[in-house]
Amino acid sequence: MRIIFLGPPGAGKGTQAKLIVKDFHILQLSTGDLLRAHRTQGTDLGLKAMSYMDGGNLVPDEVILGMVAEEFQKPELQAGYILDGFPRTCPQAEGLDKLLVEQGQNLDHVLVLEVPDSELVRRLTARRSCSKCGHIYNLVFNPPKVDGFCDHDDSPLIHRSDDTEATVINRLKVYKDQTRPLIEHYKPMGLVRSIDGTGEVKDIYQRILIALK
Ligand code: AP5
Repeated sequence: MRIIFLGPPGAGKGTQAKLIVKDFHILQLSTGDLLRAHRTQGTDLGLKAMSYMDGGNLVPDEVILGMVAEEFQKPELQAGYILDGFPRTCPQAEGLDKLLVEQGQNLDHVLVLEVPDSELVRRLTARRSCSKCGHIYNLVFNPPKVDGFCDHDDSPLIHRSDDTEATVINRLKVYKDQTRPLIEHYKPMGLVRSIDGTGEVKDIYQRILIALK
């Protein structure tokens, strides 16, 4: 199964992708996570991406397309994948189309998680994630048992530098201007499934399972 996850920042793409990965035994390919790993390792790519990410702007297409093309060489992706946070612009979608042709692959679904802006700001400013396993928490909706530490491995939780209110507002604008229009790119292919992303995580996941049938 090959899935694209579209949706604004904070819609729950990462949270839901982890559930799909577990049930369907496919990989999650998150360009945001890849970029953050580059930043942590201090690579040239990570340093280049830093100012774009911290301002809530998109990293240039050629950087992203180069990074994704490298990931596509990995044999593990043959079993299927969820693209989380990619593509985000028309040139990225066209680049992905080319990569798929080269690999002889087709997409199966484009899931679009829909959540109102006011809820997104509330979710993101309260997000924390585990510095080791990446588990995603929310101080309001899904807090850890011990403040500041992961339930699974006791590692410290981190607050993403782009999860401040001002940056979140810019990220929402960037999504509407540059990423949401991709729905029109995939509509003629009959792949788009719109999902109500509000309510309990488990109820949203049930909606996703129905859409994947
Ligand atoms: P990226 O890491 O991709 O971030 P994003 O798309 O902005 O999405 P988020 O990770 O913020 O949200 P999410 O939908 O995964 O929500 P989550 O499940 O965590 O990108 C970051 C930056 O990297 C970009 O701004 C850009 O600079 C750069 N970048 C990345 N990819 C790029 C690309 N392709 N091109 C160019 N630049 C790129 O949930 C959020 C919170 O809500 C959590 O606290 C969670 O616990 C909570 N939550 C989830 N579901 C629910 C629910 N049902 N009810 C209540 N709370 C919930």
